[in-house]
Amino acid sequence: MIDLQQAMLERHSVRSYTDRPLDGEVLDQLRAYIDQLNARSGLHLQLVLNEPEAFGGMLAHYGRFSGVTSYLALVGLDGPCLEEDCGYFGEKFVLYAQRLGLNSCWVGGTFKKVPSAFSLAEGEKLCLVIALGYGQTQGRPHRGKPISRLSRTRDMPEWFVRGVEAAALAPTALNQQKFSFELTGDKVLARAGIGPFSKVDLGIAKLHFELGSGRDSSVWL
Ligand SMILES: Cc1cc2nc3c(=O)[nH]c(=O)nc-3n(C[C@H](O)[C@H](O)[C@H](O)COP(=O)(O)O)c2cc1C
Repeated sequence: MIDLQQAMLERHSVRSYTDRPLDGEVLDQLRAYIDQLNARSGLHLQLVLNEPEAFGGMLAHYGRFSGVTSYLALVGLDGPCLEEDCGYFGEKFVLYAQRLGLNSCWVGGTFKKVPSAFSLAEGEKLCLVIALGYGQTQGRPHRGKPISRLSRTRDMPEWFVRGVEAAALAPTALNQQKFSFELTGDKVLARAGIGPFSKVDLGIAKLHFELGSGRDSSVWL
């Protein structure tokens, strides 16, 4: 199995999938990992299998998706932390899936909500989904901003540079990459930009920063 650094490098959004099903050991591993993530985060992430409708209509066609019948529904209690938490824990799932040899794509807009496919407890809402499966291709790297535009700190220590470089590999809605990082003492202030799903993007970028820099979540100011 590839490691997390390699998974960040190899992950690209994939929108066309083969009909190879998710089954056997891979499916067991995905389910066990989702249980762990839910226990840690308090989110209600749900794996949806054999559900062709969410990506069967015009929206998905417009978004250039094909062959998507499996996805992760990112559900949680509606509140100020929901989007960032979905980003952070959803990207953990994405990188784990990549390590298992799967492909994925975050999807906030170009899918149809199918309410019968997932469950919502009192006060919960569906934030977005992650399409999942065996890709027709492995995707390709996105155009990334130089790290000088993702950092507000000029004199960057090595660990901070590695964090920002890893964040530059992160998927963002419309490839916006509007987040930024600033070193304050030995803590880091992470800011979201303004735009659709920018708090989800921030959660994803913060996870990449932690993995690249080797720091844990105590690094955040
Ligand atoms: C929060 C979020 C929402 C996204 N929503 C969509 C979407 O609705 N449709 C789509 O085709 N791609 C969507 N994407 C995928 C982005 O377009 C993609 O991550 C970005 O272009 C960078 O490319 P990469 O993932 O290959 O690195 C979304 C990504 C994120 C992080």
